[in-house]
Amino acid sequence: MADTTRETATARTLKLLDPDRYPRVDATNHGYYDVLGDSDPPVHSIVQRLMRSRIYSTGYQIGRPIARKLVSGRQAPGRDQDRTQVAAWLGLGADSVVLDVGCGPGNFTGWFGSQVAPDGLAVGVDASHAMLRRAVVDNCGPCTAYLRGDAEHLPFADGVADAVSCLAALYLINQPAQAISEFARVLKPGGRLVILTSLAPRGIRASALDTISGIRWFGRDEVTGLVSDVGFTQIERHIGGLSQTVVATKE
Ligand SMILES: C[S@@+](CC[C@H](N)C(=O)[O-])C[C@H]1O[C@@H](n2cnc3c(N)ncnc32)[C@H](O)[C@@H]1O
Repeated sequence: MADTTRETATARTLKLLDPDRYPRVDATNHGYYDVLGDSDPPVHSIVQRLMRSRIYSTGYQIGRPIARKLVSGRQAPGRDQDRTQVAAWLGLGADSVVLDVGCGPGNFTGWFGSQVAPDGLAVGVDASHAMLRRAVVDNCGPCTAYLRGDAEHLPFADGVADAVSCLAALYLINQPAQAISEFARVLKPGGRLVILTSLAPRGIRASALDTISGIRWFGRDEVTGLVSDVGFTQIERHIGGLSQTVVATKE
């Protein structure tokens, strides 16, 4: 029989918020909480602007596997293999709290929610209304919730999460170092972090690529360095073509 006393995932998400900064967030907007209101993170490139558009969020589902194949080359994992590998790196269990930062339309968040059921919680955080509206429709579940927030100023209290993922989003965040220090802040000791992001090809100046592409291209040791600077340990880096996945543990 269904447990009707269980709190909804959105109600459980409110309890993770920093009570000093968010004493009262009660308005849900299209099925997700919005802690940003009018203060959207600034947009500096066409690609960042695209992420906020409805047309892009609709087409994203088709484009993501193609883009993944292009940047990862022959090593591109299939969708299920990709999600299973990320969940294993994150160490997800049946009661984990996982924050999926830059969740887009929730392809990973919804699946994480199914992996942490029945007692865990997967919260997708994104700055884009258009992406979150898709996420709520396409990737919801009893242990999944969404929140509009900024990766550089996460609304959560310190040490609430067992795991944080940031997949294909760090290269769009204006201040990646600030976001990574937020990931460290919201994780519990021993919590796991997985970042999938861009990797500048050898011999090409990353800053030149940034200007042409509108996204940030990270050097080989840049993300591992940022992660180490804020106290993560057991840092691994997995390289696939023009992408890198950094896996780490909070001390
Ligand atoms: C390419 S999508 C990735 C979606 C998903 N993680 C995936 O792998 O399919 C990148 C997302 O990062 C979000 N994003 C960019 N900057 C952000 C910020 N400062 N705070 C929160 N989300 C941000 C964008 O709105 C976009 O939805």
